[in-house]
Amino acid sequence: METKLNITDPETGKTLELPVRRGTRGPPVVDISRLYQDLGYFTYDPGFLSTASCSSHITFIDGEKGILLYRGYPIEQLAERSHFLEAAYLLLYGELPSVSQLTTFNSHIVHHSMINESLRSFFNGFYYDAHPMATMVGVVGSLSAFYHDSTDIHNPEHREVAALRMIAKMPTIAAASYKHSIGEPINYPKNDLSYAGNFLHMMFSRPSEDYEIDPVVEKALDLIFLLHADHEQNASTSTVRLAGSTGANPFACIASGIAALWGPAHGGANEAVLNMLHEIGRAGRIPEFIARAKNKSDPFRLMGFGHRVYKNYDPRARIVQRAYHDVLTKLGNSDDPLFELALKLEEVALKDEYFIEHKLYPNVDFYSGLIYKALGIPTNMFTVMFAIARTAGWVAQWMEMIAESEQRIGRPRQSYVGPACRQYPAAGDD
Ligand code: CMC
Repeated sequence: METKLNITDPETGKTLELPVRRGTRGPPVVDISRLYQDLGYFTYDPGFLSTASCSSHITFIDGEKGILLYRGYPIEQLAERSHFLEAAYLLLYGELPSVSQLTTFNSHIVHHSMINESLRSFFNGFYYDAHPMATMVGVVGSLSAFYHDSTDIHNPEHREVAALRMIAKMPTIAAASYKHSIGEPINYPKNDLSYAGNFLHMMFSRPSEDYEIDPVVEKALDLIFLLHADHEQNASTSTVRLAGSTGANPFACIASGIAALWGPAHGGANEAVLNMLHEIGRAGRIPEFIARAKNKSDPFRLMGFGHRVYKNYDPRARIVQRAYHDVLTKLGNSDDPLFELALKLEEVALKDEYFIEHKLYPNVDFYSGLIYKALGIPTNMFTVMFAIARTAGWVAQWMEMIAESEQRIGRPRQSYVGPACRQYPAAGDD
C-alpha cells in the first residue's frame, strides 16, 4: 500500500503529498523529487545523512544490527562458502552462477587480464616514489583511451565487456603500479592461476627466481577481496555513479571511484590504521591516543573506528579478525605485537564512555591492514587492494544505474549563502 507524507508550506499554506516508497528492507524513503517544482523548496542534507540517492537491488546494510547482504545473501555465509569471483558474478548479475556460468565468467576474466602493451609504458611516466594509488588513478583513467569497442554505454553488451575488463585488469594494473614503485619489471598475468593467485604472482614473482604461491595467503586474500567487493552507496561508489550519470567513459568513471576511495575517511583508512598502530607503539600509550581522539580541538581520529552506517560492530571486521588469527596460525607466525596492540586498543575504546555514546565500533579497516601485513602486502598497497575488490561493486552499481529507466544526470542543488549581487568596480574607483 502506497503511503504519503503531507508537507505544508508555512508561507503559502499549500500542501504537497509526498509519496513514501518502501524497499524490501531498510527505512522507507520519502520521494521529494517534486518538492521544488510544486512548492519551490530544496532539501538540505550535506554528507547525505538522510538521503537515498538511488534505488538499488545490489547490497543491503542494516547498520544498527551489523548486517551486510550481497543480493540478499549474508556476508558471513558468502565468506564461509563462496569466493571472490562468484561474489562478483552475484553482484553483477543478481544470482549465484551455475557451474558452467561460473566457468564462462572465470574464463572471460582470465582472458581480459592482460593490458595493452602501450598502456604498460604509461607506468614509466610516474616517478619511482609515486604512491601506487596515484598511479592507479592515472593508469585506470587511461584505459578510457583504449578499448573503444566497449564504450557505447547504451549497448548492454558493451557495458558488460567494460565491466569484465575492469574486474580482470585491476589486479594487473595494481601489481604493475607496485612493481614500478620498487623498480622491478612488470609481470604478465598467468591464465592458469586463480584471481588472487594471479595477483600474488604479478606482485611477487621475479624473472630471476621462482615464486611459489602460498595457498594460505591466496585463500585469505580471496576472502578479503570478497569482503570488500561492495558496500552500497559509499563515497567511491556514489562517485562512480555520479560520474557515470553524465554518460562518461566507464573506465574514467572507475578512475574517479579510485580517487574517492583513496581518502583516509574511506579506503585510505586501512593504511592509516597501520601507521597509527606504529605511532602508538605500545599499550601504555593507548590512553594518550584515546584522549586525543576525544579531544575536539585535535584533528586526530581513531582510524578504523566509526562508520556512517554501522552503529554496531562492522560484520566484515569480525570476519577479518578471525581470518587474521587463522592466517597467523597457519603461517606459523602467531605473535604479532601490532595485533596485540590492536586488540588492546579495541578493548579500551569499546569500554570508553565517548566511544559507547557515539556508537563507534571497529570497521573493516581496523583489521584489514594487519591481515595484509601478515600476507606480505606492503603498506602503501593496502588501499590498492581495496580498489581491486571494490571494482566488482563499482561496475555492478554502474551497470545497474545505466540500465535504470529513471536514470538522469546526478546534479545536486545548493543553498547559496554568498553575496546576493554586487557591482564590478568602475574604472578609477578605489
Ligand atoms: N575517532 C574519534 N571520534 C570519532 C571517530 C573516530 N574514528 N569517528 C567518528 N567520531 C565522532 C565524531 O567526532 C563525531 O563526534 P561529535 O558528534 O561529538 O561531533 C561523531 O563521532 C560522528 O562522527 P562523524 O564524523 O559525524 O560521522 P561520519 O558518519 O560523518 O563519519 C567516518 C564516518 C568513517 C568518516 C568517521 O567515523 C571516521 O573518520 N572514522 C575514521 C576513519 C575510518 O576508519 N574510515 C573507514 C571507514 S570504513 C571503510 C570505508 O568506508 O572505506
